[in-house]
Amino acid sequence: MSTPQRGLYVAVDGPDGSGKSSQARWLYEQLDAQGDDVLLVREPGDTDLGDRLREMLLATEVELSAYGEALLFLAARAELVRRVVAPALVDGKTVISDRCFASTLVYQHLALTVEAGSVEDVPSMDLLLQATREAHAPAMPAVVFALDVTAKTARARRSRRKNAADDRFETRDHDFQERVCEGFRSLATRDDVAGLFAPTDIEVGGGVVRIDAERDAATIRNELLERCLALGRSLGRWGAAS
Ligand code: TYD
Repeated sequence: MSTPQRGLYVAVDGPDGSGKSSQARWLYEQLDAQGDDVLLVREPGDTDLGDRLREMLLATEVELSAYGEALLFLAARAELVRRVVAPALVDGKTVISDRCFASTLVYQHLALTVEAGSVEDVPSMDLLLQATREAHAPAMPAVVFALDVTAKTARARRSRRKNAADDRFETRDHDFQERVCEGFRSLATRDDVAGLFAPTDIEVGGGVVRIDAERDAATIRNELLERCLALGRSLGRWGAAS
């Protein structure tokens, strides 16, 4: 039986260049400034195994199949959830995660399945959904904010970065980046993905929530904060809903 949780688990996810890391950090800083006990984590990472896997997963010189990628991201996630997230929630913290299982569904399945001839090398959605359920057995986000941007906007934002990254995923071609954007856009309307969440969380505004990230950063972050506070209140955090 899972441990009762008092905290709130929120994830921000989206294509590279959608602004998700800045938005996740801003959310963390706002909640912290409001006196909330809050923890910021990123995937993959934030455990000994996760940090090592991150290096391997992002390095272009390590050859990996989509199966290899998916299972390593899942291993990092299972560790993070068990060692860091679930204990923090039991302590009553709010956990903000920069990326989450939504990235695995998109990068290791949705953005790949349309490649003709490669279908048998792509982990199935059923496998990824079941593995997600198990990786998150001790704790599942109440909400995943899926930032929706066009590939053009994402590319322009990536190129403006000071330390422009050239990791395994950011170096893939434009069609792949388009499918990543399309994949994140589709998550909020998929019943199989909604089935991962507690129905009670979905009823009060949780689950995968699509966020229009073509807008300016201030508008987006205010929406994220408002939604987060409303969700927390509805779930009995920061004072119960009236
Ligand atoms: P990211 O957080 O974007 O790192 P950075 O901000 O340092 O560039 O994540 C690194 C990459 O890993 C990103 O391109 C997406 C990819 N990724 C997956 O393919 N699957 C996953 O499950 C996760 C969590 C990330």
